[in-house]
Amino acid sequence: MVKKLALCSLLFANILFASGSEVNVYSQRHYDSDKALFKKFEEKTGIKVNLITAKAEELVSRLSIEGANSPSDILITADIGNLYEAKERDLLQGVSSKVLEKNIPSHLRDEDGKWFAITKRARLFVYNPKTINPAHLDDYFSLTKPEFKGKVITRSSTNAYNKSLLASIIAHNGEEKSLEFVKGLVNNFARDPKGADKDQIRAVASGEADIAIVNSYYLGVMANSGDKVDEEIAKEVKVFFPAQKTTGAHINISGAGITKFAPNKENAIKLIEFLTSEEAQGQLAQGNYEYPVNPKVKPAGIVASWGEFKEDTIPLNEVGKQTRKAVEIATKGNWK
Ligand code: FE2
Repeated sequence: MVKKLALCSLLFANILFASGSEVNVYSQRHYDSDKALFKKFEEKTGIKVNLITAKAEELVSRLSIEGANSPSDILITADIGNLYEAKERDLLQGVSSKVLEKNIPSHLRDEDGKWFAITKRARLFVYNPKTINPAHLDDYFSLTKPEFKGKVITRSSTNAYNKSLLASIIAHNGEEKSLEFVKGLVNNFARDPKGADKDQIRAVASGEADIAIVNSYYLGVMANSGDKVDEEIAKEVKVFFPAQKTTGAHINISGAGITKFAPNKENAIKLIEFLTSEEAQGQLAQGNYEYPVNPKVKPAGIVASWGEFKEDTIPLNEVGKQTRKAVEIATKGNWK
């Protein structure tokens, strides 16, 4: 009996191996929520997930250097800019899947099937309600008003989130107005850009600044961090969704694309289908406080408490296309 079982499992292992039961993921994301999901996928399907994490730029150039010999099946990035770059450099292949079409709204996936959003984040304002009257806030340009001089804070323009935000402003308003935006923003800075998004929120709470441009999920993460100081800060500050009367708040994504030479293409499709399923989307929403892309899934409690808002639904390839221009304009406008 034992012998028979052992033989069976050996056969099973061979079948798995013979059918190439693995999928190789290059990911910029390094969250525990992702690792837990990969494990769940392995248990459900028997397909092993091999994960390599690094900065998006490094993963893109690695794919380019490896070419047809790359073991990678999937590239995951935490913003549209690098995903668009990978598409433009012909490192991804188009796939079609009825499941992905059902799980992801069309403006959150590439029209050629070369990338698919797996989570969304809004780039919004976090402010001190004691010093900022939200009635005076509006779109991103409203931060350039003279009344906000010395009050505004955000991280460096070299950061991918700010590059994509500026790229979306260029896509909507053209270069000239976008340069005016950058100059006005820099003119209102409370300090030279430094630190990451959470540091901007902390600076608002400490009084060093009054209003910050940050990604939505960082506030959710701080509010549930277990760190007493950060949890208190998250209670003191307020959220404002910009551009509700015009374009809607800028939306960036974490997204996945299947690599051009993926050796395990079918497994790769299965993994992206799983990541956008109701089950996985629920876990991503609860684990990292991002917005789910699957419309059937609700965001985490604290995120839902900020309310519903109008999202910018501009095709994200239009944003990706302006990323290089965004770097140029940020430099011209002296946004460090
Ligand atoms: Fe982030």
